[in-house]
Formats: sequence, C-alpha cells, structure tokens
Amino acid sequence: MPCASILIVDDEPGIQESLGGVLRDEGYRVESVDSGEACLERLRKAAFDVVLLDIWLPGIDGLETLEKIRALPTPPVVIMISGHGSIETAVRATKLGAFDFIEKPLALEKTLLTVKHAVEQLRLAVQNRLLEEAVHGPSRIIGDSVPMKALRQQLALAAPTHGRVLIYGESGTGKELVARALHRMSPRAGQPFVEVNCAAIPEELIESELFGHVKGSFTGAVADKVGKFEQADGGTLFLDEVGDMSLRTQSKVLRVLEEQRFTPVGSGHDLSVDVRVISATNKHLEDEILKGNFREDLFYRLNVIPFYVPALREHPEDIPALTRYFAEEFARIYGRRPKQFTESALELLMQYRWPGNVRELKNLVERLVIMVPGDRIERRHLPAHLLRDGTGTAVPGSAVSAGPFTSLYDARSAYERNLILRKLEENQGNVSRTAEALGLERSHLYRKMKTLGISPQNG
Ligand SMILES: Nc1ncnc2c1ncn2[C@@H]1O[C@H](COP(=O)(O)OP(=O)(O)OP(=O)(O)O)[C@@H](O)[C@H]1O
Ligand SMILES: [Mg+2]
Repeated sequence: MPCASILIVDDEPGIQESLGGVLRDEGYRVESVDSGEACLERLRKAAFDVVLLDIWLPGIDGLETLEKIRALPTPPVVIMISGHGSIETAVRATKLGAFDFIEKPLALEKTLLTVKHAVEQLRLAVQNRLLEEAVHGPSRIIGDSVPMKALRQQLALAAPTHGRVLIYGESGTGKELVARALHRMSPRAGQPFVEVNCAAIPEELIESELFGHVKGSFTGAVADKVGKFEQADGGTLFLDEVGDMSLRTQSKVLRVLEEQRFTPVGSGHDLSVDVRVISATNKHLEDEILKGNFREDLFYRLNVIPFYVPALREHPEDIPALTRYFAEEFARIYGRRPKQFTESALELLMQYRWPGNVRELKNLVERLVIMVPGDRIERRHLPAHLLRDGTGTAVPGSAVSAGPFTSLYDARSAYERNLILRKLEENQGNVSRTAEALGLERSHLYRKMKTLGISPQNG
C-alpha cells in the first residue's frame, strides 16, 4: 500500500512526537490528535488506514472511542496503546474489534511490526474486496428516488419466488446488478449464478455454449463440454441481451423452459435441470416480435415478472448519492483520500442526460478520483461536454423533463411510469384508488402497469 496513513490518538505530547517521528521515517503519513472526540471528528473528515489509540484518554476513553470507530461506515484498522496494568482492557479491546495492542513504554521494533501487519491486513482486505467484486460485481443498489424505491420493493417481492424475470433497461442502467440481487435474495443464493451474454457469442457456438456438446459432435469439439444450463442446475441462469438470440436458438431455449430438459449437441440423451431463468434486454421485445425477430411464445415464457430499470435521466435525484458512493468506492480501491463534490458540480451532473446511464457516471467518477488533485471536485474539473449537453431541465423531484429523450415513445413511457409510480405511492399501492386518481379504468391501469413493468403491490 503506497504511503499508508496513520492517526495517533494520545494525550502525551512526548508519545505523539516520538511515535510520529519513527513512523514518518518509515514513510507513513502521520497525524496526531489528543482525545477520542478529536479522533472521531478527524475520521469523519478524512480517511486513515490505521489508528493508534491510547486506552487512557481525557474525555471519552479508548474503548468507547474504539466502539464509535467500529461503527463508522468504513472503519480503519485500530491498534490500542496500553499503559502498565491495562493489558486486560487491551484484550477486551481486541474483542471489540481492535486489530492488536502495543504496550507502553513502546518498543520500537514491536510497534513497527504491528503497524506493518495492520497495513498488510488492510491491503489484503482491499484485495479480497476487489477480487470479490471482480467475481460477483459490486452489489449495493443505490438510490432512494421513487422509481428506485419501486424497483427495490419489486425485488423483495419477486426474489423469493421461482418466477422468471425479464429485465428491461437501457445500456448501463444496472440490469445485471438487479439480476444478481434477485439471485442473492432468492432461496437459490447458495447455488450457482451463471451468466450468458447472448450478444457476445457467435451464432454457431451459442447452442453448444447453452446446452453443451459431446466430444466429436462437430469440428473443434475435442472434448465433452458442459453447457450453461447444466452449470446453472439448482441455481439461476442469466440470459443477458436475450433480444440478440437467433430464432433457431430461441426455439431451443423455449423447449428447455417448457420441459426443463434439453439435449446437448451431438448427444442422444436428454438432461433435465432445475434452473430459474432471468433475462435482460435493452430492446423493445414487443417491437422485435412485430418485426419477426423474436418469438412471441418465448417472450411470454420469459416475461412472467417484468422489471424495468429506469434510465438515469429518469431519476436524476439519485445522482448525488450515486456519485458519493462511487467516489468512496474508488477512493478506497485506489487508496486515495475521499474527495468531495461541490454542490455546483453535483448540480451539473444532475442536468446532464447520461446516454450511458449509471455506467457512464461511474466511469467519470473513477477518472475524477484518479486525476483531480486535492480533496474537492468542482464544476471546472468536469468534462466540457457535460456543460454543452446539459439540458438544464432535469430538476430533481420534478416530473421527467421531455428534453433528454430521443424518441417520443421513450419520453412518454418514462413520464407515464413516473406518474403511475408516484400516484401508487400516494395511494399506498392501492390500484383501484390510483386508477380513480388518474381517471382510468382499473383494468386499463393494470394493463398499462404490466407493459411498463410495474408490478402491483401493497404498501
Ligand atoms: N443503482 C446502482 N447503484 C450502484 N451501482 C450501480 C447502480 N446501477 C448501476 N450500477 C453500476 O453501474 C455499472 C453498470 O451496471 P450493469 O452492468 O448492471 O448495467 P447493465 O444494465 O447490465 O448494462 P449493459 O446493458 O451495458 O450490460 C455496474 O458497475 C453497476 O455496478
Ligand atoms: Mg449488462
């Protein structure tokens, strides 16, 4: 870890000085404070990797400070400094989550070694986290706007069932995040989550990818291959970009969904599987059906529970929270101090139309965290196209502005969705009352909700 940062909490100026000096000589960045209160205050403003915390402090003592530190969203590693006779307390501190303790008078070697171990442990934790994210993707769904709240409610309702889910949403809106959340919150969570990107696999390989093949069944089939359906047995299969499957593959997938069985390429035997299928698309599959590109019967099989992940411009009020979340994530990943976005910078982010949705925002925040020196990200640090393309109309909390939409269809759907969600919320999810408030027949509202991917629910 390049230049780990250390906060010393001790009310003896002698300790602050000598310990600080030794650690600085080793290349650490060091600051000191003289009380638990000052420590917590400092940690709220800046991130430190390691805290060296004296047990006897004026004001709140070391143990209480430790408990408060551990309750922070991203606590540093804490090493307790114990005076004579306070070893028992130090042991108690390790039970409360302290990493280790060192004794006064401080032995140089032991102190440096303990700090080194603490930094090492932190580095491992970051590495694990990166690995975890590389394998599973980051998992938190951020956003408290009306459409995101609705999405979360829908997740809670749909996840525990075995119902097939079709997730609609533009590129970069978080469809995969939702698919993983559905799996994680389901009884299948302990079983595999297997992903297939139907757009990325060449047509001639997709069948063997999905269903597997036996050795020698075609040129290049040098060994038996287990298909994705079989890999996902007991778990969830995520068919990403399902709108890009050929008609031929569609009919094969349809059969698996109907019979829960399939034949590997070149095999004479059927295999049966228990797989929950979640699919995602950024196409309007209804249009693709009309054009003859997508099978209607497959559509109905996949679309038992429709989910709609809104475009970012449909919920600009979540942009500040998303920005802060990504800024913290990347600061941690790159071992930087967290950076604050100014109000004015956030405002500009909220006005931009984000054609690449959350992914585009995330990439921008990553770049800014790396490139901007200092702790503040201001309007002037943001790329020029944000200023140029900001429509200035997407005011938080307002209904969706017409400005950012490319097609009338999208604008209308987004507007209708937002309106219906808001009215549903006002009426505690009661569809009849919502229909009345909107001046619609109840059955008409139901149909609309179904096409817009809003599921009826209470509360
Ligand atoms: N609400 C959210 N909270 C936190 N992170 C999010 C959110 N929405 C999207 N992300 C992040 O944005 C990135 C893009 O999301 P994801 O890959 O799920 O989008 P997608 O809809 O599958 O995109 P594509 O259609 O391009 O495959 C991911 O890194 C994801 O973790
Ligand atoms: Mg995706």
